[in-house]
Amino acid sequence: MFKRMRSDIQAVFDNDPAARSRFEVIFTYSGLHAIWSHRMAHYFYRHRWFTIARVISQVSRFFTGIEIHPGAKIGNRLFIDHGMGVVIGETCEIGDDVVIYQGVTLGGSGKEKGKRHPTIGNNVVIGSGAKVLGSFKIEDQCNIGANSVVLKEIPFNSTVVGIPGKIVRQGGKRLDRLSHQMPDPVVDAMGLLQREIEGLQLEIEGLKQQLQGVPFSKE
Ligand SMILES: CC(C)(COP(=O)(O)OP(=O)(O)OC[C@H]1O[C@@H](n2cnc3c(N)ncnc32)[C@H](O)[C@@H]1OP(=O)(O)O)[C@@H](O)C(=O)NCCC(=O)NCCS
Repeated sequence: MFKRMRSDIQAVFDNDPAARSRFEVIFTYSGLHAIWSHRMAHYFYRHRWFTIARVISQVSRFFTGIEIHPGAKIGNRLFIDHGMGVVIGETCEIGDDVVIYQGVTLGGSGKEKGKRHPTIGNNVVIGSGAKVLGSFKIEDQCNIGANSVVLKEIPFNSTVVGIPGKIVRQGGKRLDRLSHQMPDPVVDAMGLLQREIEGLQLEIEGLKQQLQGVPFSKE
């Protein structure tokens, strides 16, 4: 148990350049407190003491702002940075050396029963505010961009950004550049109106020429 706790503390130093001393990390890192509380809650959950498990999880949530369901399976050296607003669902599985920033939800899409939360591979970074919803796998070594909403499986060593999440980098190679231009119905309607006006102007010119006895040409 102490070996595992030591590796949790080391994970903080590995991932957070702001971490100064062991004392500071042990007493002030809420992500660490949430993970340690979760191990306790998960122990009771596995032994079917569901209520006490839930109580531990909710007390931890009260103090850390991080809600980890006691049923979630979490690997070694998870680092939750800042933490506030993180939610990890009951059937979620997280591998080793994962980094999760504040505001991340590893949740269900609301459409599935049974296993309904994601499985996160090893060495995955999940940016602040990202939502990963559904029972699919994020393979090892993926980066999930801040504020993305990921709704389907992400292959090994990929970077995904946006809503819904799009893969922008895979195996270290950039894929197609993102189109940051949003569809704008007002601009589309203006273009249509402009073309209508041009057509009408052409017809008026033709009518004028006909009235003056000049044969009308559309050129
Ligand atoms: C996604 C991320 C990991 C960068 O990965 P990367 O593979 O180096 O990607 P790049 O920086 O080359 O960006 C690739 C494209 O995605 C875009 N992009 C990057 N992050 C994005 C995000 N979070 N949302 C939307 N688009 C994003 C870039 O603008 C770029 O677009 P382009 O095709 O127009 O050039 C990083 O931007 C990120 O979001 N990290 C999360 C960190 C975090 O949450 N920190 C909180 C600290 S408190």
